[in-house]
Amino acid sequence: MFVNKAIFPVAGLGTRFLPATKAQPKEMLPVVDKPLIQYAVEEAYAAGVREMIFVTGRHKRPIEDHFDMTFELEVALEQAGKQELLDVVHSVKPDDMECVYVRQPQALGLGHAVLCGQRLIGNEPFAVLLADDLMVGQTPVLQQMVEQFAEWRVSMLAVQEVPPEQTKRYGIVDGRAVNDRLIDITRIVEKPAPEEAPSRLGVAGRYILTPGVFTEIANQQRGVGGEIQLTDGIAGLLRREKVFAYRYEGRRYDCGSKEGFLEANVELALAHPVLGADFRRYLKNLEF
Ligand code: G1P
Repeated sequence: MFVNKAIFPVAGLGTRFLPATKAQPKEMLPVVDKPLIQYAVEEAYAAGVREMIFVTGRHKRPIEDHFDMTFELEVALEQAGKQELLDVVHSVKPDDMECVYVRQPQALGLGHAVLCGQRLIGNEPFAVLLADDLMVGQTPVLQQMVEQFAEWRVSMLAVQEVPPEQTKRYGIVDGRAVNDRLIDITRIVEKPAPEEAPSRLGVAGRYILTPGVFTEIANQQRGVGGEIQLTDGIAGLLRREKVFAYRYEGRRYDCGSKEGFLEANVELALAHPVLGADFRRYLKNLEF
């Protein structure tokens, strides 16, 4: 397997969701019946990743608890003969999945968070998944990227077209088309104003990176927002290695915003095998 480890930066404060995130991590907010972080972990697992590295901060204990054994609950479910629920609980962390936690002592930015995972990654390619971006694809998006990585052996960033007025929310790339889906990146800029954006291709929260990126991040000054930016580290990497952008197949919900979070809840509820049909009926009867 080419990509065995993934970093999940989960140290952010989640201020956009206050007061819901006053005492719980934003990554634990549920979309329908699963916390956001679980969607990202399941996506990584489906792509063959087995070592999940969470870069955490204060107040993030619920994430560790979620991926740990819940002894009392499991005993209670077993005694009550609730096998189906027991299976749901067990499926959160399959036996061959390992979870490792490392602290980011200060919120110095996404690049800094990724750098906190350096020692755990060592000298191998790795994935980065931002749980805020909930990705839904027939083939899970990270798996699509791992397949591309296996073929091309260069760093891969998931990208999508974004409206011009939204370039300042994303890392924006420019480059030469390799084929319908791949772009050989020549430039990447973090959150440019529309008039400065080199294109409208915005980076979504999925990356496969070669370990060379760590040195580049470590050499970065603070960038946009006074933070050590992953995008700037990738811009450094570009001077030494090829980096491809990959137009993924699927849908991204920006669960870092309330609108995106609500859209994800509605659409995933509609697609839910048990709840979907009733929920559709309910929505049809709603009077606006
Ligand atoms: C981060 C990255 C940005 C990327 C985005 C995707 O920004 O810095 O380059 O496009 O994630 O969601 P954030 O959303 O953390 O501000």
